[in-house]
Amino acid sequence: LKVLFVSSEVEGLVKTGGLADVAKSLPAALKLMGHDVRIVMPFYKTVTGREQAVSLLSTELYVEPQPAAVGYQVMQLASGDVPVYALDAPQYFDRPELYAENNQAYPDNGERFAFLSAAALDMCEKVDFQPDIIHCNDWHTGLVPFLLKTRYAQSDFFANTKSVITVHNAVFKGIFNYDQYRLIPELIQHRYINAEIDPSHISMLKAGVAYADKVNAVSPNYASEMLTHLGSHGMEADFQNRIRDLYGIVNGCDYGDWNPETDPYIKQKFKANKVSLARGKKACKKDLQQQVGLPVVDLPVYGMVCRLTEQKGIHYLIPILKDFLVNEVQVVIVGTGDPALASALRQISEAHADKFAFVEAYSNPLAHCITAGADFFMMPSEFEPCGLNQMYSLAYGTLPVVRAVGGLIDTVIDYDDKPHVATGFIFSDPTPEALLIKLQRSLLLYSQKPQEFKRLQQNAMACQFSWQESAQQYLEMYLDGDMLPSVTST
Ligand code: GLC
Repeated sequence: LKVLFVSSEVEGLVKTGGLADVAKSLPAALKLMGHDVRIVMPFYKTVTGREQAVSLLSTELYVEPQPAAVGYQVMQLASGDVPVYALDAPQYFDRPELYAENNQAYPDNGERFAFLSAAALDMCEKVDFQPDIIHCNDWHTGLVPFLLKTRYAQSDFFANTKSVITVHNAVFKGIFNYDQYRLIPELIQHRYINAEIDPSHISMLKAGVAYADKVNAVSPNYASEMLTHLGSHGMEADFQNRIRDLYGIVNGCDYGDWNPETDPYIKQKFKANKVSLARGKKACKKDLQQQVGLPVVDLPVYGMVCRLTEQKGIHYLIPILKDFLVNEVQVVIVGTGDPALASALRQISEAHADKFAFVEAYSNPLAHCITAGADFFMMPSEFEPCGLNQMYSLAYGTLPVVRAVGGLIDTVIDYDDKPHVATGFIFSDPTPEALLIKLQRSLLLYSQKPQEFKRLQQNAMACQFSWQESAQQYLEMYLDGDMLPSVTST
């Protein structure tokens, strides 16, 4: 199969969240299965390897009835073995950040990503890549399926091209005023897919969900949540309309990057066997404590790495953190985001400097050190389409404490539910109290039943969320039903 994977970020080149991890790993896994996969993304100012990029061609996106065409270049990069087409349009992407500066979204984000969608299609014929599948991701690419069914409906070039959209997070709907869609006059002429909240706006995610041939969520449980008002953030009707073409496919874990036996960022590499695990964890914990300025003592450490947003459940943790710190524990949180949440965490860390460290930063090396050096990893998310950090921590024998939402349910087994096969702890109620109870529960296991705790670590480290398995499911979705009746192999 020929697959064009369209994403606004790709780990290794540019990243703000989990979407980037998927955009690195899934194309690589499909490529390993023998498919011709290529990625399209913006040529941001901050892309790694920008200086070495080679210009493949310089061209123009011409959209009637616009008087002026938009010039852009197709630059060649690579994500591992997967070729990457990076679209260079300086007026849109030559900026310090991807989406926002100082918590202020760029005012023309609608136009920027409408350009990405339009140019991703415009480029195909020019680079002579005729995809069987165009795989879109989140709102940034939502207009691709729409354009395929409108602008390109009669095109011979795309006559056999189908589109898929993967929903990584339905809270981000990409809602913009019609003014931003001058490159997509088809939308304006027909006043398609109003964003309902305001008829002068349209949602790019809704467009993608309505027009893609297949739609999938990044975990089976999130797919079912998307059919509800709460779980879909008000888009339940859009997903219900697509129920025959709706899939849930859990993300994999990239064990090339997240493996305690090979991780270059951690103090001491370790294996799952008890001696190696105990020694490795001890060294990694000491290193973590030193890095974040906590006393080097033998206490259970609870880690958390996340964007500081309510999605991640920080607002459940903040009210009970002081109560939890009464115990003989240490807590480390690393992340950036909402200034109010950051300031609340800073205050608590100043008052409890011996037990709680808050590092206001985005740091991949430190994320690895927490994943390796902590005993527990907290993800009390309000919602979580899939979640990747719980899979990373399982691989390091760091037991996740998670809320029963989205992909967290699909990937963690609760100790109180199934003690023998358990890999962590799950609480349900979206309240600080419910989180506190589960944290205390996990602490009791650690301090009173060390053998049980070690058994859970073994269960956790035995988990395998392979990208090959998930890629196989994506392939089945690509080939399912009447999607590609004539294509049976690559
Ligand atoms: C988004 C979701 C997260 C998911 C990731 C990759 O960041 O919030 O749950 O794991 O996308 O699909």
